[in-house]
Amino acid sequence: MMRVGVLISGRGSNLQSLIDARDAGSLPVELVSVISNVAGAPGLERAKAAGITSNVVDHKKFDGRAPFEDALSAALLDADVEFLCLAGFMRLLTDGFVNKWQDRLINIHPSLLPAFKGLDTHARAIEAGVRFAGCTVHFVRPTMDEGPIIVQAAVPILSGDTPASLGERVLAEEHKIYPLALRLIAEERATVDGARVIIDGADAAMEAVINPPG
Ligand code: GRF
Repeated sequence: MMRVGVLISGRGSNLQSLIDARDAGSLPVELVSVISNVAGAPGLERAKAAGITSNVVDHKKFDGRAPFEDALSAALLDADVEFLCLAGFMRLLTDGFVNKWQDRLINIHPSLLPAFKGLDTHARAIEAGVRFAGCTVHFVRPTMDEGPIIVQAAVPILSGDTPASLGERVLAEEHKIYPLALRLIAEERATVDGARVIIDGADAAMEAVINPPG
């Protein structure tokens, strides 16, 4: 099974969705390493509770991005990580690091990319008056929040929505699509084709997750 590492900076609810899917038998990967760049991140406790080796690699303790990433790479090598998931990891990675992990590195972003890259996506979506918000799992490329899209989910924006209420509904979808995207990759059903990802059986896979039977 594919040996997966997860990089976090905080709460770790997306990490939890991967753990839960693994435990439910719907995610055929080995979660072998959780690394946080923030000491005391709540997600580290989730890793511990799930029996996953976790490490803190605190960017503040390094003089610049390159030495920080060297330490990150050493920890990933140590755990024999083959595939990497960013789950609320709030540091930008250098081109060198991203290219080294080309097509083995994915991220979850709380908007319907390519709209609303960057931070405060829900406030900006409400402000812009768009009718749908959502989330995206994509392969990482050197430019922030760009890269071939694997799975997306949309939620309507309601008239009374605040960034918090919208964010909660989007987060519920994040927790469905991150395990789905990783499963499709683990099952070798997601193939990068230029700027796009071709998914074998995409329609049925999406339907089963977004509208579960029963
Ligand atoms: C999520 O909204 C994710 O889309 C974004 O950061 C947040 C992380 O939340 N990249 P959590 O730490 O997984 O709970």
